Amino acid sequence: MARALAILGSARSDGHTAALLKRLIDGFDCEVIDLNAANIACFRYDQRYADDDEFMAIVERMIAAPIVIFATPVYWYSFSTVMKNFIDRMSDLLMSQKTVGRRLRGGPPESPHKSRWALVSSGSDREPDRDLSSAFRRICEYLGVECVAEVYGVEGGAFVDEDAAQTVRARLG
Ligand SMILES: Cc1cc2nc3c(=O)[nH]c(=O)nc-3n(C[C@H](O)[C@H](O)[C@H](O)COP(=O)(O)O)c2cc1C
Repeated sequence: MARALAILGSARSDGHTAALLKRLIDGFDCEVIDLNAANIACFRYDQRYADDDEFMAIVERMIAAPIVIFATPVYWYSFSTVMKNFIDRMSDLLMSQKTVGRRLRGGPPESPHKSRWALVSSGSDREPDRDLSSAFRRICEYLGVECVAEVYGVEGGAFVDEDAAQTVRARLG
């Protein structure tokens, strides 16, 4: 079986979000892609991307993974810039890459091929940001993937909802 996948998108690769993610996946077999180290172009309406653009290769790993974790800090009630850039590129799956987009959905809710995503976010507020949560759930809904859980931590601290963390871990192995 393919490995679980985490996509880390923060302005710093060793900050609170990275620490939170590390604690969540510690002891599990989960590949981490740091968007700061990936070559992902900004979304283009003409869908012309350079040969070294890594977006579609990452999407293939997402399709194969039993769960994909999106790890982002809360920046101004929303995703980090690098994560938002990555999410904007999902529009390619509704444009020039529709066949891949259909594969990403992966069938009905109980199908083993269904894509399952989780959000990990880190902010300074005591509670998870409702606008970020809502955006993530709506993105999952629009793309036809299952939102497994949302995990939040204040800075790099404890998970505010340990059950949500356990729900993600149950999918990790
Ligand atoms: C540009 C910027 C905007 C932020 N906006 C918010 C916010 O809207 N809500 C919040 O709870 N924390 C906000 N914070 C605090 C960060 O989300 C928090 O410190 C987080 O743990 C940082 O994670 P990082 O080390 O991965 O960047 C903001 C921080 C920065 C730098």
